[in-house]
Amino acid sequence: MSLAVGFGLVVALGATVGTRAGAATHPAKPKVAKAAKAKAPILTGRRPPLVAPGMKMPAVVASTCSACHGMTGISPLGEFPNLAGQGKPYLVKQIEDFRNHTRADPLAQSIMWGMAASIPRNKIRAIALYYASQKGAPGQPAPAKLVAAGRTLYFGGEIAKQLPACMACHGASGRGLLPWFPRLAGQHQAYIIAQLQAFKAKTRANDPHAIMRTIAAKLTTAQMTALAAFVHTL
Ligand code: HEC
Ligand code: HEC
Repeated sequence: MSLAVGFGLVVALGATVGTRAGAATHPAKPKVAKAAKAKAPILTGRRPPLVAPGMKMPAVVASTCSACHGMTGISPLGEFPNLAGQGKPYLVKQIEDFRNHTRADPLAQSIMWGMAASIPRNKIRAIALYYASQKGAPGQPAPAKLVAAGRTLYFGGEIAKQLPACMACHGASGRGLLPWFPRLAGQHQAYIIAQLQAFKAKTRANDPHAIMRTIAAKLTTAQMTALAAFVHTL
């Protein structure tokens, strides 16, 4: 992590604590979005702000969410998922699941339960639409051996273990075949591994029909690492 990104994150986290407390009493502050937008290159560390045409950045994104998820949904740290280009129905579902505590892995409990609870109910869809409309993270390089092993599993599954191919739902390009199958393309490796471990440990149990718990239960840690490396390159 570069110094600039680290500094931006600390500043933003500080601002978050300050802003969240007042969020309930001052819902709409149009100028916040503009001021925070100007800081985006520091927060995301990668690219200038990119707002879809005609799409207004929700105030809570500028004041709060951007501290960890970046102004356009590309997050600066591996533990914080990219949200850019993620399916809108999937994002709405996750925010609801944090709010009603059905997504209950450790980082969900310690961070996202509080964050999701602070969002006014009538703003959830606008926030999801905003992130869904942003350009998704581009594929990044990862260690070649891991990528090769991950690719084989992603496209072929493992017949002996009755492990289905990830491609069947997450798509050949990792963008999700249906809107509620999440985008994995370009996602941070640390986040992907953490989610697969959480599904396996059943601490994350908000997947319909236990789809991902059943799949993750069959994966070894080495396979999770390989899959995370592969989807990072998509
Ligand atoms: C202090 C850092 C932080 C802030 C601020 C924050 N998040 Fe998060 N967010 C996280 C972490 C960490 C996770 C991963 C949680 C887990 O592992 O279950 C996450 C997960 C999510 C997810 C699930 C993504 C996925 O791929 O399943 C969504 C959606 C989300 N956050 C939306 C928001 C919104 C909207 C806000 C602003 C109201 C926000 N977050 C503020 C750290 C943060
Ligand atoms: C039958 C469909 C299906 C298959 C096959 C499948 N997934 Fe999933 N996956 C899902 C669904 C649905 C979710 C979202 C669960 C929810 O609503 O929280 C998901 C969620 C995930 C997540 C969490 C994403 C996030 O942003 O938090 C990861 C990581 C993941 N899958 C990886 C994989 C990998 C790796 C494979 C192959 C070994 C795989 N999946 C195979 C349907 C599938």
